[in-house]
Amino acid sequence: MARITAGVATSHVPAIGAAIDNGLTGTDYWKPVFAGYDFSKEWIRNNQPDVVILVYNDHASAFGMNMVPTFAIGCADEFAPADEGWGPRPVPKVVGCPELAWHIMQSVIQSDFDLTVINEMAVDHGLTVPLSLLFGQPQAWPCRVIPFAVNVVVYPPPSGQRCYQLGKAIRRAVDSFDEDLNVQIWGTGGMSHQLQGPRAGLINKEFDNAFLDRLAGDAEALAKIPHLDYVREAGSEGIELVMWLIMRGALNAKVRELHRFYHVPASNTAVGHMVLENVD
Ligand code: DHB
Ligand code: FE
Repeated sequence: MARITAGVATSHVPAIGAAIDNGLTGTDYWKPVFAGYDFSKEWIRNNQPDVVILVYNDHASAFGMNMVPTFAIGCADEFAPADEGWGPRPVPKVVGCPELAWHIMQSVIQSDFDLTVINEMAVDHGLTVPLSLLFGQPQAWPCRVIPFAVNVVVYPPPSGQRCYQLGKAIRRAVDSFDEDLNVQIWGTGGMSHQLQGPRAGLINKEFDNAFLDRLAGDAEALAKIPHLDYVREAGSEGIELVMWLIMRGALNAKVRELHRFYHVPASNTAVGHMVLENVD
């Protein structure tokens, strides 16, 4: 049977991808950011997933005002890195897992969550930066990846509670897939940041650290934070944190926090990162 064994939460700041691609990871500015991922790189080498369900948001690369799915699952064989204005990142193509993706699609829709099926999609920094942070710069990504896109760009975003419950539905779907697969689920984005308007540059360390404190052991209550509280406290792009709740909902009630990292600043955001392992 397929099993979700662990969850990873991480920011997906585009400038982190640019730092990697341009050989800047050892500079004074970036060194402390990448140091926060040393543990996780080693951990994932020893806990290699077969498939990662990678929950992220598209930033007007594949979707725009012409089409805004709230939840979309990538069912294709492969996904190309998106051109976000400077050419596609020099990273491997993403190899999908259509059998599991279609199974999740069927199971989750039948659990009353509407998903949009995507059979062709370029994937942007929201998906490729987390892969680079965990896997470095390989010739090919070492596992298959199911892109799971969430709209947090165009109002209204889904609530944290709905995301958390969706995570539980994804979990049931994986549990009922009849193939031995080690599956991880990653939630990306966050932490506090606002990229535009009078509050551009907003960082809220207290909110971020409270969120990190509660994610492992107090997720049921954490999921009840209304979307406006994210916007008010963590900035307009801080709402990306609801994607961490999809990841958390897909894990066991009891999890072990293996690693936590928080750093300010990276570009315009606070970088947060956590590795959670399922406890039976
Ligand atoms: C920035 C961060 C993000 O997470 C993002 O999606 C876009 C921009 C930034 O810090 O510039
Ligand atoms: Fe983002």
